Amino acid sequence: MIMDSAQRFAEMLKNREAVIFSGAGMSTESGLQDFRSRTGLWANVDPTALASVDALRNNYEQFLSFYISRLLVPETVKPNVGHELIAKWEREGYIKGLITQNVDRLHQQAGSVNVAELHGSLEPVRCYSCGKAAQKEDFIQGKRCPCGGRLRPSVVLFGEMLPDSEIRKAELWSSDCKLFVVLGSSLVVSPANFFPRKAKQAGASLVIVNKEETPLDYMADLVVHESIGDFLSETQKHMNNP
Ligand code: APR
Repeated sequence: MIMDSAQRFAEMLKNREAVIFSGAGMSTESGLQDFRSRTGLWANVDPTALASVDALRNNYEQFLSFYISRLLVPETVKPNVGHELIAKWEREGYIKGLITQNVDRLHQQAGSVNVAELHGSLEPVRCYSCGKAAQKEDFIQGKRCPCGGRLRPSVVLFGEMLPDSEIRKAELWSSDCKLFVVLGSSLVVSPANFFPRKAKQAGASLVIVNKEETPLDYMADLVVHESIGDFLSETQKHMNNP
């Protein structure tokens, strides 16, 4: 019997001890742009000119307007079926951890609990000089911290270190899982793209679900070049069969 990809993936997921690794492709079906696909945020922009410590220091006006646009997310942006199913499968015990590069917190809104946010999160906004948390509205109005410092989102900027606590969670899960699933990432940014490789080397099966090819497709046990929402919904149909 030739299993189709969704059926095969469901059988792998049923073995539990799965770790999910998500990128911006996870949130496009919620109406957010990704970065490197044809319609992505970086399509006509050099990311280091906007999302870097250098931009924060030397190009604050453009840095500010870029992150204001990302903070002013319309109410219509909600978790999509992919986020919902990942949270459901965590509750049912199939998923032990979720490593995300995303800063939109849609996974947490959908109910995911064991989450490592490798690149931080847009909120809270805080002062770059004294670190004090500030109101999102103050940032949107271009205000400074009472100490005079510039306000910034809590995302990890190019040129900054990833949070130790998140790295430790990701390392723990990647080195001890049976199944490592990449969802919607081009896998070109390090050190985040280290984790799929680490999991594979530690003996996990590697599954990559991404509309476009990735540099790690060659080492994956299953590659699915389809929409995440469609593929995970198809997978769910096979999760109830014993
Ligand atoms: N289903 C499947 N794949 C999708 C979907 C979808 N609905 N939508 C987009 N994709 C794919 C795109 O084809 C692309 O290959 O998701 C991938 C997203 O890749 P990137 O835009 O590079 O996003 P990501 O890998 O998360 O970027 C990593 O780069 O700029 C930094 O900090 C930023 O966290 C980000 C990091």
